[in-house]
Amino acid sequence: MRIITTESYQEMSLEATKIVAGQVYLKPTSVLGLATGSTPEGLYDNLVAVHRTIGLDFSEVTTFNLDEYIGMAPENPQSYHYFMHKHFFDLVNVRPENIFPDGCAEDVPAACKAYDKLIREKGGIDLQVLGIGRNAHIGFNEPDVKFEATTHKVKLDDETIQANARFFEDEEAVPRYAISMGIKTIMLARHVILLANGPEKAEAVKKAVCGSVSPAAPASILQLHQDVTVIVDRAAASMLPEEYQHGAHEIF
Ligand code: GLP
Repeated sequence: MRIITTESYQEMSLEATKIVAGQVYLKPTSVLGLATGSTPEGLYDNLVAVHRTIGLDFSEVTTFNLDEYIGMAPENPQSYHYFMHKHFFDLVNVRPENIFPDGCAEDVPAACKAYDKLIREKGGIDLQVLGIGRNAHIGFNEPDVKFEATTHKVKLDDETIQANARFFEDEEAVPRYAISMGIKTIMLARHVILLANGPEKAEAVKKAVCGSVSPAAPASILQLHQDVTVIVDRAAASMLPEEYQHGAHEIF
């Protein structure tokens, strides 16, 4: 695990941009796993800028989204499908036949199985982008997750519902269920980058980077991944040991 602590959200987004842009430049047929949420917005803005200014080409890239609310139509502005189009896909030349978990699938278990199969058929995920929840969830893999789970239906924690209510009219409007890549799906990605900013993520980052590996803190499993880069701003790094609060370090 490598950790890069930056001075600001902007710098965190730039470090992530170097990694994602480098991946796509070196392997134009890359398979990317992409996250939604406020954290990666700066990354997507930067990738759009790199596409527009120097022509970074996404035409051969395949993308898989990490998660989606169940029962939410793609055209709903709160859907993760809509988010990805608005912030990224509609602004670069990724081909429309990108694939998402279908939040409206009638047979959810079958859709989940098909999703993992499709990832395998595309050669597996080269680079997975992750944010982190305040309770250390990744995707929608909430505490007490089964590490062996592949893409599956998830019941959202109350804490996650409260945290995500800011995107909805009120808390009642937040869906209670989602489809998420499972921990096993995420762990099969060849390289993972985890982004976090702000003081409200400090505790989760501490659990992910230096806590015990436990289903109680789903992101802690990343300590067992062979190629993870954690990119955080100073506020999100504030509960880490002093030496990790500046610069870049190989932790183990
Ligand atoms: C959400 C999403 C995650 C995201 C996380 C953090 O619930 N399911 O994929 O990484 O929580 O979101 P944000 O970046 O908005 O803080």
